[in-house]
Amino acid sequence: MKFEPKQITLKNAKTVFIRQAKVSDAEDLLNCVKIYIPTSKYIPKLENEIKLTVDQEKDWINSFIINDNSLLLVAEYEGKIIGNIDLTGSRRKIMEHTAVIGMGMLQEWQHIGLGTALLSMVIEWAKSNPILELIWLQVYTENESGLNLYRKMGFTENGIIKNFFKQNNRYFHILTMSLTV
Ligand SMILES: CC(C)(COP(=O)(O)OP(=O)(O)OC[C@H]1O[C@@H](n2cnc3c(N)ncnc32)[C@H](O)[C@@H]1OP(=O)(O)O)[C@@H](O)C(=O)NCCC(=O)NCCS
Repeated sequence: MKFEPKQITLKNAKTVFIRQAKVSDAEDLLNCVKIYIPTSKYIPKLENEIKLTVDQEKDWINSFIINDNSLLLVAEYEGKIIGNIDLTGSRRKIMEHTAVIGMGMLQEWQHIGLGTALLSMVIEWAKSNPILELIWLQVYTENESGLNLYRKMGFTENGIIKNFFKQNNRYFHILTMSLTV
């Protein structure tokens, strides 16, 4: 199912273009992710664990193009990718009506409405997708802006696993949230 590209103006008065990722975005998207993952406290991946090559990233992007229950959007400003959201539909028949969300953006673009815009567009797309019925995500219970965003968009809390993450001898809890579309 196609996604019609959109433009939105953020709270910093800058206008950003949101569109479906293309295979040719692989290098730029990988560069963006390599910057925001190590600087985000609430993405459970260490810098040395980001091992995808550009070719593997191309395959990953292509999986969203060919799978009808999946969508990968990028936010672009002045030709550069500044953030993304992925909705990965299950490949298992019994769960193909479900998809999991991942999202992130460069630090200087956080807290000015980009997450709200990306997530609203994914929810709207999921609602009109004939396969999807349930979308879900997992979030650190300390990720205030993430929690506020997901609650604002109507996600409900399904449960917490305590001490799920352990970093520098500190434990963090994980919360699963979901939305019926
Ligand atoms: C979490 C994240 C996706 C949120 O997106 P965002 O663009 O920063 O969020 P928005 O500016 O759209 O704000 C969404 C809501 O969060 C809340 N919020 C915004 N800034 C906040 C802050 N500094 N502290 C607490 N809550 C905040 C508000 O309720 C806001 O809604 P409102 O603007 O209508 O009041 C984004 O900050 C991000 O990518 N962070 C790093 C990676 C990450 O944590 N990914 C999510 C993993 S589950």
